[in-house]
Amino acid sequence: MAQFPNQSGPIGVFDSGYGGLTILSEIRKRLPRYDYLYLGDNARTPYGTRSFDVVYEFTRQCVEKLFELGCPLVILGCNTASAKALKSIQMYDLPKWNPDRRVLGVIRPTIEQIGEYTRTKHVGLFATIGTVQSESYPIEIHKLFPEIVISSVACPLWVPLVENSEYDSDGADYFVKKYVDQLLAKDDQIDTVILGCTHYPLLLPKIRKYLPAHIRIISQGAIVASSLEDYLRRHVSMEELLTKGGSCQFFTTESEEKFKKSASVFLSEEISVRHTQLD
Ligand code: DGL
Repeated sequence: MAQFPNQSGPIGVFDSGYGGLTILSEIRKRLPRYDYLYLGDNARTPYGTRSFDVVYEFTRQCVEKLFELGCPLVILGCNTASAKALKSIQMYDLPKWNPDRRVLGVIRPTIEQIGEYTRTKHVGLFATIGTVQSESYPIEIHKLFPEIVISSVACPLWVPLVENSEYDSDGADYFVKKYVDQLLAKDDQIDTVILGCTHYPLLLPKIRKYLPAHIRIISQGAIVASSLEDYLRRHVSMEELLTKGGSCQFFTTESEEKFKKSASVFLSEEISVRHTQLD
């Protein structure tokens, strides 16, 4: 297994596809002075329907690639990877690669905030099949807020709608309404809903349309960004390793042209993208 020395470099952000761009955008808004490197494993997306072992292996390869490219810190901008791979990577891989490098996920920061939002203590979760089956959200929520009742709905068709730029289409309405209705049928006291997949903010206007107006919808981007800012304040030696040129580079395992075209809906800037091979 590769070993990586301590070195300064950009913050790495990873997702199975484009969803992590919703996290990256908010992080860059809040922390613009750092350099960033984004890796989308678009060739193998979606992860949400894959087994624990496969998600772990794919995520491990992507984190290794981001370390190879010089990132001292990697954010898994993907709930499925955070649910199914983060702990194993932290426990088994990081100590071998370099115990001073860090990998952080998006689930814990989201959960830390949830107690502030819900009044009824009934919370809904939309997420991928993998995230729902892992039970990461209920397990972690109950550690901090044992009184919260959480109802989850897996939405396997939402990621393909986003990956194929169909999130705005009339056809998307059918599948948004379908999963919203499933959640409302599970618990009518829900006052807060977590979008527990980083692709879902693209579907927000449609989710808003079908959820009753009093239900608050939580997207993760801003939450993860403020949690990262707090992390860097508390971890000065990591903060000092991060380079501060305000740049952002993009890597994809799919075609550069395809990434550039699809990513433009998430980002309001011209980007340069490079293809990368994982092996
Ligand atoms: N964006 C990822 C997440 O937050 C999942 C997408 C996928 O299924 O690959 O869970």
